[in-house]
Amino acid sequence: MEQFATIPEERLDEPLLIPVDAYVSPEYARLELDRLWPRVWQHVGREEEIPEVGDYLTYEIGFDSILVVRTAPDEIQAFHNVCPHRGRRLVSVPAGANGARGHKGICNGRREGFFCAYHGWTFGLDGRATFILHAEDWQGALTEARTRLKPVAVDTWGGWIWINMDPHCVPLREYLEPIASLLDPFEFHEMRYKFRQWGIFDCNWKVALEAFLEPYHVWATHPQLNKYGEFYAWSKALGLHGIDGFDSRRGEASAAETTVHRAAVGEDPRVAIYQMQKEFLETIGASTTETLVRAAARLVEELPPGTPAEEVHRHWLASARAEDAARGVRWPEISEAQMAAAGLAQHIFPNMNILPGPTFALYYRVRPFGDDPDRCIYEAIALERFPPGEEPKPDWVYAPQDPSAWPFVIGQDISNMVEVQKGLKSRGFEGCLPNPHQEKKVSNLHRNLARYLGIGVPRPLAAQ
Ligand code: FES
Ligand SMILES: [Fe+2]
Repeated sequence: MEQFATIPEERLDEPLLIPVDAYVSPEYARLELDRLWPRVWQHVGREEEIPEVGDYLTYEIGFDSILVVRTAPDEIQAFHNVCPHRGRRLVSVPAGANGARGHKGICNGRREGFFCAYHGWTFGLDGRATFILHAEDWQGALTEARTRLKPVAVDTWGGWIWINMDPHCVPLREYLEPIASLLDPFEFHEMRYKFRQWGIFDCNWKVALEAFLEPYHVWATHPQLNKYGEFYAWSKALGLHGIDGFDSRRGEASAAETTVHRAAVGEDPRVAIYQMQKEFLETIGASTTETLVRAAARLVEELPPGTPAEEVHRHWLASARAEDAARGVRWPEISEAQMAAAGLAQHIFPNMNILPGPTFALYYRVRPFGDDPDRCIYEAIALERFPPGEEPKPDWVYAPQDPSAWPFVIGQDISNMVEVQKGLKSRGFEGCLPNPHQEKKVSNLHRNLARYLGIGVPRPLAAQ
């Protein structure tokens, strides 16, 4: 594997080359398992998935399995999911109908403790051994430290539960900054699952993730959206993380260029907003809500022709907000400046990308499949604010990598993934050339990966 010096954040403005090793090399994938995944905060699920004491879920990453348990009404703990006696996986993840479920590691349930099926060692919710058959045979060597489940750092933010296997990790909040402060106004903890779908794809985890890290692909991959205007984007590194947004003026973004406010181009903004929102609902099933679509449908009755676009946007949002309030859905207080600062989508290093709105969010999480550089576990998840007591509880839906098995727009993104993985292996391909203005989130991901892995990609093209 080639060795290069790691570039500083400010050099992401330069044209760069990302060597293909990052996507196809078994050695690189192995390095990720050794040096990346055990040292980063990863979101493993939502707090509402384990509401009662004893509720647990499992999370698989590489060859590690993490057991996450609610140990008190306001406390969650996490442990390595392995019995300290002779190493049996403590909570087994059922293979499931498609045989692949075990790799994803979704296993939810409620227990008073954890019983190892091999020799019966038993552990309390706090990880301490509560029963060891014939413990005296060890002649006093079975200390609490030797027999308890090995703890994993755990914390919450945004309603998500996060774990970190590194005992010396920085606190979650510190790790997430400055993204956490940018996104706090959205109050993700008030949202609940709308849908969650997953699959195992024949591409590297970064190929799948990067399909969503930039809107540069919209023009060619989602041509049906071009009628709403140009999806020119700005893209920025924020330390470990990244952010992008619409940039139709090739400069400072305005509130009308952020996710929900996105100014749909057209003769009549009243009509264009409605068409775009309706299309989002029909072809993504997320990135808007039924309330927003209904409020958009009312615009032609409520506003006279010729109303300026910015005013139409404000009216539309106020109208949707009022309708939601009437059914018990509260909107968070997000100023236009905060909305603009949050942009379109935020990359949380290493493997999560969020597209937020005031009452909804769509996000993607991608993980490697074991140590295979050519496969990944891909998940698309939609959240929304619901009236109290009316939250749906959708389970995971498995879908093949056939694009038609996914919401239309996400399927379009998926249609590139396997083709990219094939192309990356071509003898005729020299490395990725991310757009220095619009795809900086991609370059920044590789810059930070290189730091974690102790190798140096990407490299400036000028240095070739
Ligand atoms: S491996 Fe768990 S009790 Fe023996
Ligand atoms: Fe896309």
